[in-house]
This record gives sequence, C-alpha cells and structure tokens, in this order.
Amino acid sequence: MRIAVSAETDANEARVAATPETVKKLVGLGAEVAVQAGAGQASGIVDADFEKAGAKITPDAAATVAGADVVLAVRRPAPSALAGVNANAAVLAIMDPYGQHEALNALAQTQVQAFAMELMPRITRAQVMDVLSSQANLAGYRAVLDAAAEYGRAIPMMMTAAGTVPAAKIFIMGVGVAGLQAIATARRLGGIVTATDVRPATKEQVESLGAKFLAVEDEEFKQAQTAGGYAKEMSAEYQAKQAALTASHIAKQDIVVTTALIPGRPAPRLISAEMVASMRPGSVIVDLAVERGGNCELSRPGEIVVTDNHVKIVGHLNVAGRLAATASQLYAKNLLAFLETLIDKEAKSLRIDGEDELVKATRLTQGGAVVHPNFAAA
Ligand code: NAI
Repeated sequence: MRIAVSAETDANEARVAATPETVKKLVGLGAEVAVQAGAGQASGIVDADFEKAGAKITPDAAATVAGADVVLAVRRPAPSALAGVNANAAVLAIMDPYGQHEALNALAQTQVQAFAMELMPRITRAQVMDVLSSQANLAGYRAVLDAAAEYGRAIPMMMTAAGTVPAAKIFIMGVGVAGLQAIATARRLGGIVTATDVRPATKEQVESLGAKFLAVEDEEFKQAQTAGGYAKEMSAEYQAKQAALTASHIAKQDIVVTTALIPGRPAPRLISAEMVASMRPGSVIVDLAVERGGNCELSRPGEIVVTDNHVKIVGHLNVAGRLAATASQLYAKNLLAFLETLIDKEAKSLRIDGEDELVKATRLTQGGAVVHPNFAAA
C-alpha cells in the first residue's frame, strides 16, 4: 500500500497533511509513504524529519502520487495532480464540496474515491477525526491574537504609576468550537468578554467560561438548534430583533470576533455598516466567516479594511493555517485516525466498508461518479 503526501499548491496554504509522527504510524501499518520534497516546510517540518520517520522524499507532485493507493491532502487536489494514482485510490482532504458541482464531477472522472473530511459525523467514535473542530479551535484562538495585534491598546486592565488602563471589551459572535476558544483566549488576555449565539445550549457554555451571554431569547431561539447540533437560518423577524440588541452593544466594544456559520449556507450577516460606524476609532473586528460571505458587511476576504472612522476589519483567509505547525499536527492526526478505519491491518491494504457510517457520510466520489446523496444531483 502506497500513501502519497503532496505539497499543497494553494499559495494561502501552509499546512501539510502528514507529520513525522503520523508517517511513522503509517509505516508501522505496513505502508510505503512518499512525501513531496518541501511539503512540510511551511509547517516547520523539514524533509529530513519525514525521512527519519520512514518516508521516501519524492522530487515533484507526479512522482509523489505515482502508483498511490491513498493520497493525503489538506485541500481538494486538482484532477491533474492525481494523474498516475491507482484506480479507486482513496483521497482524503478538506474537499469544500458545497456549490462545487463541476469540480466534484472532474474529481470523479479521475476514478478516485474522494473523502470530504469536513463531512465527518460528530459522533463519539469520530471525534478524533473531526477536522472542523481541530481547525476551528485554532482559528478561534488565532483570531483573538490577531485582534490583539491590530488593536493599538492593551487588553488587560493595568494600574500603573502613570495611570490606569481600562480592560478591553471583547464581544464574540457565534459560540461554536471557534467561538468557545475565542472566549477562553480573550479571558486569558484579561478582556471583559461577552458572547452571543442563537443556540440556547451555548448560554451555559459561555457562562462557564466566565463570560456574559447576550441574545434575543424568544420562542424561535429555543428551537434554533438542529438535531445535528448546528444553528438554523433564523427568520427575518428574529434577525431584526438580534440586530437591534447587538447594535447598542457593539457600539461599546473594543474588539469583536465573529465566527457565526450555518452549514451549507452563506454566513449570517450580523454586523452592518451602520454598526461599524458606531464603533470607536481604533476598534477591531475579526471576521472568521469571511470565506463564507462574512458576518460583517464591510469585511473583505484576505484584507484588513480600515474604515473612515478608523475601525479595522480583519478578514484573514485560512486562519487555522496562520498557526500552520499546530494545525498540521492536529489535522494529520485526524487523517491518520480515519485512514486507520479504511485499512485492513492483516492484509496491509485498503479495505473500505461502504456500510460504515463514516464512509457513507464522507465519500463524495467512487467509480467515476459523484456518489454522495447531498452532492450527486449536481
Ligand atoms: P459552526 O462553525 O457551524 O457555527 C459557529 C456558531 O455560529 C454556532 O455556534 C452557531 O450556532 C452560530 N450561529 C449561527 N448563526 C448565528 C447567528 N445568526 N447569530 C449568532 N450565532 C450564530 O459551529 P461548530 O463550531 O461547528 O459547532 C456546531 C455544534 O457542533 C456545536 O453544538 C458544537 O458543540 C457541536 N460539536 C459537537 C462535536 C461532537 O463531536 N459531538 C464536536 C464539535 C462540535
């Protein structure tokens, strides 16, 4: 069994899909692992470390994937990057499948079995494979550090001989995995932290982290969580009430970090241009939802926008990738854990059980077609 780890081709991607630790485990399972030269460099892993772990270093993408039974990647590989893999090879990556009909069809044409790691069910058995959690946690942490770095003032209260510095007021919008870590990080830095979400379960979580919860707690709020634990898209009426509540709050905040997402839908718009205009000069907004349309009307993907009233709106892409070494360490572990379930350890070969709920939930393509029920109609 040959496992390929190519270098990522996207200029914004510093992560890598394997680490020396996971390579060692894969070699221990009887696999031959090929890692493209330089693949780990942006994550602080040099070729020699991969080699020491038992990998073979290959000079380019084509040599890396040639004859591969498994391809491990961070982002969905282009079909051209899969030329030469074995038929039915398993390709594990963050596939970004929503609204990507043509790309998924093209991927299917390569005859690989593509697995979308972000579709992994959130059940106990699969927690160790949950890339959304492993990466969102880091993004939430990094978002607060990015905000602190852009903010021209100190975060904690400081009583000095030269005067007292007030603590920064930090508001976290959206309290999923990223939001919870953002709250914890903002508290550790000494901020005065408030947070909001539409799912009632978050109230207790926010309070247990020592922050104050703020939300429109009406009948719709009580029903806002789906069976899967995600938020529903809220009605126009709820959104108007939410906007009225948050507008007066945001005007008093120094830092706002937004993390609100709804699976498969554009990000909810939570901060209008008027709300930004009401903020004090020097305030900072970090929009973690910028790649999905943004929670703030004025955020721009990949940019730091400075408004006329001197509010900075930070829209970094791939925020987990801004902590590439840690993000790769956890992501590679997620991939290894899933791959282990696809391997027959006796025969040392791939054995994919189409009846396994993890396979059913994540397999996008097989036998030349898009087979996932949510994307097959494309
Ligand atoms: P997400 O990334 O899809 O969304 C982030 C947050 O935005 C969510 O808390 C959501 O409620 C909130 N949101 C959506 N619309 C909003 C609006 N209009 N205003 C304010 N907030 C809004 O969520 P994530 O981080 O993936 O977590 C989703 C759920 O999954 C949570 O309940 C989490 O605890 C659960 N989970 C379960 C795991 C498991 O293995 N059992 C692992 C990880 C998360």
